[in-house]
Amino acid sequence: MDTPKFLIVDDSNAALYALERILAPVGAKIHVAHDAAEGQRIVENTPLDLIITDVDMPGRSGLEFCDWIKRNPGTADTPVIILSSRETDRDIDRGFEVGADAYVPKSAAGSDMVPRIEQVLDRVALARDRLILLIDDSKAVRSIMGDGLRRAGFKVEAAQNGEEALEVLDSVVPDLILMDLIMPGINGLELCREIQSREALASVPIVVMSRVSDKVVMRRMIQDGISAYVTKPIGINNLVQVLKRILSEQFHLMRVEQKRLAAERNLTLGSITSLVRALEARDKYTCGHSESVTGIAMGVARHLGFSNNDMARLHIAGLLHDLGKIGVRDNVLLKPGKLTDAEYEHIKEHTTVVADILAPLPGMKDVLLAASSHHERWDGSGYPKGLKGEEIPFIGRIIAVADVYDAMTSDRVYRKALSGETAVKTITEGRGVLFCPECVDAFLKWHKEFSGVRPKAGLNGRPE
Ligand SMILES: [Fe+2]
Repeated sequence: MDTPKFLIVDDSNAALYALERILAPVGAKIHVAHDAAEGQRIVENTPLDLIITDVDMPGRSGLEFCDWIKRNPGTADTPVIILSSRETDRDIDRGFEVGADAYVPKSAAGSDMVPRIEQVLDRVALARDRLILLIDDSKAVRSIMGDGLRRAGFKVEAAQNGEEALEVLDSVVPDLILMDLIMPGINGLELCREIQSREALASVPIVVMSRVSDKVVMRRMIQDGISAYVTKPIGINNLVQVLKRILSEQFHLMRVEQKRLAAERNLTLGSITSLVRALEARDKYTCGHSESVTGIAMGVARHLGFSNNDMARLHIAGLLHDLGKIGVRDNVLLKPGKLTDAEYEHIKEHTTVVADILAPLPGMKDVLLAASSHHERWDGSGYPKGLKGEEIPFIGRIIAVADVYDAMTSDRVYRKALSGETAVKTITEGRGVLFCPECVDAFLKWHKEFSGVRPKAGLNGRPE
């Protein structure tokens, strides 16, 4: 981020000086004004990231100044912190009523101001570009709330009833759904249930707008899993505060969950890598093969625009693709000479053995299919099933190309490593015959990028 720009408005030079010292660790460029009029001139001419204002000043008060900032479409997005020596609940309430993003008593400024600034700026960043789906049958509500939410930094998609909302939700996953309770057609209660039954939407927070008299229904809906309800009429500033709070809680939970999943995934990958290394230790020629194939396959997949999720599946499938060799007898696996037909048939079984090994693991079906299809060929000449073209799982097609490249450019018990150029020539000649054309094209891009460098798995195909 560029240097943030703050404005401090206070009629006391001593207070301005003290605050500048408190703010020094933030590293912001600080503009100062001694009253609201001077503050307004700066606000009108300078883009600001934050405004801190005193309340009691000659001329307009800080509360009136804050109210002006929040009503002015050009500045309504700019967060305002009120800094005041008035510390009663009523004073604090009045600050929030005029749209302040935070209220810091002067007596606590030394300890509270910097954390509060960080919190406010985080919240602003959080609202930026977050998509709210606003569902309300009243055109006026959609228009006024939509404008208010956009001014607060949100993106807004609107629907006039439940049916229209469900249509929007077929193609869009918003960050939060804000809906009316009573609508013609599907009512809010039914709509909530329908939304929550859709897997892709299950974690999207829902906020319901209701009247005071709907309290009993609302309590039931909270039990059913909506995040919050707000009673109409609600001021846009209060609504924005509620939505930001929910999104920041959601964001926090998501971060915790992401960390937990990443730790779990690393543990799984660590165990799989150890297992594969133990298997490959039987044969010095194929030692490191699976990790190397995985590294190449992930490099290729980057050129195919794989998502992080698909990348994770490919990572596991790549590491496990030859796991079935655990069932191949040593005298066949390690045989230096040419294999007999029967021995070759025995080696081929590794693709079905891997499927048997992985079958009991829940959620591994696509990994299993990908691992067991790495010897299938585009023209149907491969094994074990003789699948053709797009019948072969995409990940299996990528691993096939990576597997051939790694095998050709590594020493084998029966021959020395071939050059990278020879392997690339063979793969290029096999484009659309033995190998998926799209995968070969992506492979060639990868090879051009890292020609001759043999990557290891876990680095997204980037060399060590
Ligand atoms: Fe294999």
